[in-house]
This record gives sequence, structure tokens and C-alpha cells, in this order.
Amino acid sequence: MIDYTGSNYAVWETTPLKIDEFKKLLPTEQLEYLCLMAHLAPSSHNTQPWRFEIKPDQLEIVINIIKEFILPASDVNGRQTVISVGCALANLKTAANYLGYKIETTLLNNDKQIFKPTDDNSGLIPLLKIKIELDAPNENLAEVYQAIFNRKVTRAEYLESSEIPPNLLDEIDALNNDQIKIHLVSDRLRRLTISEFQGQADNFVINSKKFSRELGEWLLPNDSASFVGMPGIGFGLGDDEAKRLHDGLIGEIPLNPADGLKFSTGGKIGIEKSPTICFLTATDDNVENWIAAGEIVEKIFLKLTAHGIVFTMHAGITEVSLINKLFSMSFLGTSRRILSLFRMGYIKRNEDAQRPHSPRWPLEKVIIDN
Ligand SMILES: Cc1cc2nc3c(=O)[nH]c(=O)nc-3n(C[C@H](O)[C@H](O)[C@H](O)COP(=O)(O)O)c2cc1C
Repeated sequence: MIDYTGSNYAVWETTPLKIDEFKKLLPTEQLEYLCLMAHLAPSSHNTQPWRFEIKPDQLEIVINIIKEFILPASDVNGRQTVISVGCALANLKTAANYLGYKIETTLLNNDKQIFKPTDDNSGLIPLLKIKIELDAPNENLAEVYQAIFNRKVTRAEYLESSEIPPNLLDEIDALNNDQIKIHLVSDRLRRLTISEFQGQADNFVINSKKFSRELGEWLLPNDSASFVGMPGIGFGLGDDEAKRLHDGLIGEIPLNPADGLKFSTGGKIGIEKSPTICFLTATDDNVENWIAAGEIVEKIFLKLTAHGIVFTMHAGITEVSLINKLFSMSFLGTSRRILSLFRMGYIKRNEDAQRPHSPRWPLEKVIIDN
């Protein structure tokens, strides 16, 4: 029996600070705590691509992207990596606002080309400057602040017939802004259509050597001591299954056809049987909108967590280029670009909700010393 309490899971044991406890910290400690909130966010393949620079004198944090973690097969434009930083920003903002601070962000790099993975993948890309200023605590955020510590993706089957409460869907819909449109799909026919697209995308991934090898490098055996990546248990895989899929994807053993099939149909079936699918689109496929999309996605995830609703992301439709084009033309019927897609619902089997969190680096590893 694997126990998921090693040092690669330790950050999840952090006790949430109360407003008065946070106020008593030194500026450096406050900024570190806010970085920890950001670090608990989801990231594509659990790469945790962020590195935080703390400037206590100016009450500032700079979030840099570590270039090495922009994955060349599945994230050819760096879009998923930047969206991940948007998720981290949402956590940081939620915690800061709850604890009595407002934040002002400045985009440090808006040239898309910089985020494309290249052969020289060393170094960091400064992405966001975050300035923190004193404000009144917003106690209405208590539940979503708590959700930062409980949130996780749950790649499992949901109860198709248990609908998401309409008032919650309205709240989610209201997170729309000028750039980002939120699309909520709950009718069966359109869910089925989306699931077909996802099935095609996953099929492509499993049949492409480049994609599947990269996936295998990040989809890990359950007993892995790695601080990044996704142990197979997060996909509902048993210990032997996870190891076999990892070894098969990286080409060490022949990929077991049943494992490949299970993987490529898992997403499709999951989408088909989820009561609601959500996806985000923008007219401009630019860095600013990638961050904005990530922020909205994570705000929704925190809301869902606070309501006991589970969710998981499916980046295939967004990143497999042919599928993306077909999806935009035939499903959306507009030139808006889809930036993110996830499904949500109530868990079908309780044991699937009991899975461990994903690993994380300890905080000191993601903070850059000046
Ligand atoms: C931008 C982005 C894209 C993601 N794409 C996928 C995906 O295509 N399939 C999937 O199963 N999980 C996807 N995830 C979920 C991550 O794998 C997950 O967040 C990560 O493993 C950390 O786990 P946690 O969110 O439970 O902490 C994505 C997450 C983000 C932020």
C-alpha cells in the first residue's frame, strides 16, 4: 500500500492562515505565503512552471516561467503553460483579497513567440509583476480561500443525472469578461459531440510517438518520489497499471493495447457522462487572454470545490491543432479560439474522491533567491 505523505506531498499539509495571523507576519513571510497559495494551483502535466521572485521592500512578486517546462509536444505555443500561471494568479489573488490585500498586476512579456518551446530551453521568462497593497479583508471569500487547500482535479466518472445547480451555473457564467467568453454545455447532444472531439484528440496523442513519449515522462508510477508530474493514481490507475502505462508510453516496454485504449476512451466517456462541460474562448489568441483564461478557470475550480463538485481539464481539443480547427468551425461556428475545456459533476464512486493530491515542490524550490 503506497502512502502519499512523502516530502513530495508535504505542502498540502499547510494550515490555512487566519486574517489576523497573516497580518502579524513580516513582509517576506507574507509574500512567501502568497507564493505558496499560487503554487497549489493546477498546472499542465503538473509541471509547476512558475518561479517566484520576492521583493519585500516593494511588496512585489514577479512570476517567471521556467522555459524547460514548456512541453514541446503538447504545448507547442506555450499556451497551456501561461494558462497555468493564470491559475496560480487566481489563487494568489483570492488569498490576498480574503486576507485584506488588493493586488495590481503588470504583464511583463506579451510577445507570443517567446513562449514557443525551442531547442535552447534554458532560463526563465518573466511573465507577471504583482504588487500587493493593503485593503479591507473580504470575508465573503472564506470558502474559496479554504478551497485553495482542498482543490484537485478528479479524472473519474461523474453522475450524469446529478445536474449542477442552475444558480451556480449562473455564477460561473457571470465570470465572463470583455475578452473571455464562458460556454456552458449541459445538453446531451452537444456533450456527445464534444466527447467525440476529445476521443479523436486523445487517439491522436496515444498514436503519436512524440506526444505519447512526453505524456509518459510526466505520467508516473504511483510510488514515484518525483516533485512534479502525475502519478497514475490521479487517473484512477492501480500500481501495476500506472507503472505499465508509464513504461509503455516512454517506449521501455510495448504499450499494452488495452491500456492505450483505456486511456484514449477515458476522456471521451468522462465527457459524455458529465452533466456539464465548460469551455472558454477568446477572439484574440494572445498572452493576456491566456492568463485571463487561466484566472477564470481556477476561480471556477475554487467555486466548484467549495460546493463539493469535482472537475477535470481536457487540453486535447485546445492543443491538437486539427481537432481544434474542426471544433471551432463545426461546433462553435465562429472564429473565436477555444483556450480551455473542462468537465464538472458530482463524483460517482466515493473512492475516486479520496485520491491523494498531486505532488508539489517544497515552496523553497520555487522561490528564486535574489
Ligand atoms: C492549463 C492546464 C491544462 C491541463 N490539461 C489537462 C489535460 O489535458 N488532461 C488532464 O487529465 N489534466 C489536465 N490538467 C490538470 C493537471 O494535470 C493537474 O492540474 C496537475 O496534474 C496537478 O494536479 P492538481 O490540479 O490535482 O493539483 C491541466 C491543467 C492545467 C492548468
